[in-house]
Amino acid sequence: MAYNKTMSSFRITGLGGKKTLRGTLPVYGAKNAILPLMSAALLVRGESEFSNVPGIADIGSMATILEGLGAFVSRTEGTVRINAREITNSVLDHAAAKSLRASIVLTGSVLARTGEVIFPHPGGDLIGERPIDLFIAGFRAMGATLEESGDRYILRAPSGLSGCEFFFSTVSVTATETLMMAATLARGTVVLKNAAMEPEVVALAEFLISCGAHITGAGTPVIVIKPVTLSEPPPTKVIPDRIEAASFLALGALAAEELTVTDLNPTHLDGVLDVLTRMRVPLTISKDYITVRAPERLEPVRVRTHEYPGFPTDAHPPTMVLLTQAAGESILIESIFDGRLAYTAELVRMGAAIELMTVHRALIRGPTPLKGAEIVSPDIRAGLAFMLAAIIAEGESVVGNAHLIDRGYARIEERFHAVGVEILRV
Ligand code: EPU
Repeated sequence: MAYNKTMSSFRITGLGGKKTLRGTLPVYGAKNAILPLMSAALLVRGESEFSNVPGIADIGSMATILEGLGAFVSRTEGTVRINAREITNSVLDHAAAKSLRASIVLTGSVLARTGEVIFPHPGGDLIGERPIDLFIAGFRAMGATLEESGDRYILRAPSGLSGCEFFFSTVSVTATETLMMAATLARGTVVLKNAAMEPEVVALAEFLISCGAHITGAGTPVIVIKPVTLSEPPPTKVIPDRIEAASFLALGALAAEELTVTDLNPTHLDGVLDVLTRMRVPLTISKDYITVRAPERLEPVRVRTHEYPGFPTDAHPPTMVLLTQAAGESILIESIFDGRLAYTAELVRMGAAIELMTVHRALIRGPTPLKGAEIVSPDIRAGLAFMLAAIIAEGESVVGNAHLIDRGYARIEERFHAVGVEILRV
């Protein structure tokens, strides 16, 4: 993605290797949980209310699309209310849907609710190919027809979706969520096999169950959804963002005298805590917070991203920065996305020794001191990783495309400033 000069950047004065960060970093609600929940609200002929909603830009894009469909969306600090009594339109707002990959999750609820959905190929990050074949195959298995017209897809199921058994040939988080939503209003039982097991999938199932849905198996590879009529749910609290938690723990492991990352759920972080423990990062784990300190020496490790409960691909970029500071050779294997290692060229420019052996495999030799630089975020997660690199570097850095980081992390400069990072939005 090109550097947008009209947008803001973060100017960060690096610690130059000092480990002085101290204090508390709160984790906000999970972006990848609230976006599907906002879609699920369209299945309910009434009001849904969500709390612990992060103040990120993607929520605004999602709200724009929902309003275009006829729903009423009201937002206050930390809360979103969606009234979907009337859904009057089946066409997703083109620009908003293009700007937000997660808009694809709306196809399931709109198709199930109105018998039709018209949408563009969704946009999103530059982390590799993001096809939608699994969504289409799943909808077809449920009896929908597909028409392609220019850049638009038109799915139709005028007399409702039918029950089916569907096997995901690749495990996909949003495809699992989307088909699970569509299935709640289908005419027969839907069995989803090789489903994603991420905590966000479980949170979505719990919300749908609170609306009266009959769903079993969420959090396992086989989810069974039986049709029911949904009713208004009680207020729902969004689960903590495990990727934000992982990123903050990496920051602590790099540069903290003592950092407490609060409002998280450690049971969602097994893959991340396993890597930090193998790197010999001192951690104190409590029920909903973790205290972390930067050790004198970080052990090199081999990390392979994997579907949940494995090590999350979205936690890979901040962990890459951590590996540049480990004493020896580490390997990072990115198994989910083809384009996700491209950002490492910028870390090399800052002084890291990272060699891409294939598009999926990086060899990292450490520890290498990093020096400040002007760097531009290509996506949300690499952007946050660049902030971490800038924080530990010697000298000043400017991290451009702050708006991409804002898509995933609310008020990040305030939170980092509060623990001792010298940071300004410019
Ligand atoms: N895939 C297909 N066909 C499809 C859909 C996916 O081949 O129809 C492939 C993808 O190309 C990829 C693999 O399946 O190789 C897994 O991707 P997945 O579909 O699980 O990703 P996603 O659902 O589009 C969600 C998160 C991503 C996160 C991935 C993997 C949301 C809104 N997004 O995306 O989050 O990286 O799961 O965990 O939940 C982010 O937050 O920065 C982000 C990119």
